[in-house]
Amino acid sequence: MKQRWQVLLGISLGLVALAAGLLAGRSTTEGWQLAARWTARAGFPLLILTYSASSLARLWPGPQTRALLRERRFWGLGFAACHMIHLAALITFLRLSGTQRPLPTLLGGGLAYVLLIAMALTSTDAAMRRLGRWWKRLHTFGIHWLWFIFAFSYVGRIARPETRMIGLIGGGIAIAALGLRIAARIKTRRSASVSSAAVSR
Ligand code: HEM
Repeated sequence: MKQRWQVLLGISLGLVALAAGLLAGRSTTEGWQLAARWTARAGFPLLILTYSASSLARLWPGPQTRALLRERRFWGLGFAACHMIHLAALITFLRLSGTQRPLPTLLGGGLAYVLLIAMALTSTDAAMRRLGRWWKRLHTFGIHWLWFIFAFSYVGRIARPETRMIGLIGGGIAIAALGLRIAARIKTRRSASVSSAAVSR
């Protein structure tokens, strides 16, 4: 139970973002649009922490990074809880505004939600054992797809002057997180080749 606080944090961040959007909007529809925008923003740090946990622990081993890695599942569940609030906000906004999103957006975002729900439902030791190597495939592909949707959404905002700043910040954070994963992989490969050279000596 003590590790469930990340889930409560995700729910709280999502609800605060939702309430802030509804209060800030000059009309009901604008309120729900801001709620959709800000709930996505609120969940982003949780996703980035989940995505970077193993890389941080590999690059800078220590009590904090080890604790993050140990509790990564709960950070992921916190993100899932927060992002379900994004789903509720975006559905309400799309219904009120009568606007449509392009099909590729719906397919990409829809797949992200299918993966997110599947990952949340299988985030137990029992599911890990039952699914075997499929568990790893699902969670590796899923976390990268979620990262990709964020990176794509933010980088796409750089082109428009009114969203450039948030695009640069969000896109920069997403690319930096990918950089951490690449650096961690290089470090693992290097230490594996150093230890196999030491064994063969
Ligand atoms: C079919 C599914 C989805 C739809 C229809 C959708 C729709 C929306 C809408 C209406 C907004 C507010 C747009 C605005 O700024 O005016 C938004 C913002 C956003 N959504 Fe979603 N969304 C979906 C899924 C996702 C997923 C799965 C992710 C990430 C994994 C995501 C990430 C974002 C981001 C990064 C923003 C911008 C937040 C910001 O401005 O900081 N969305 N989305």
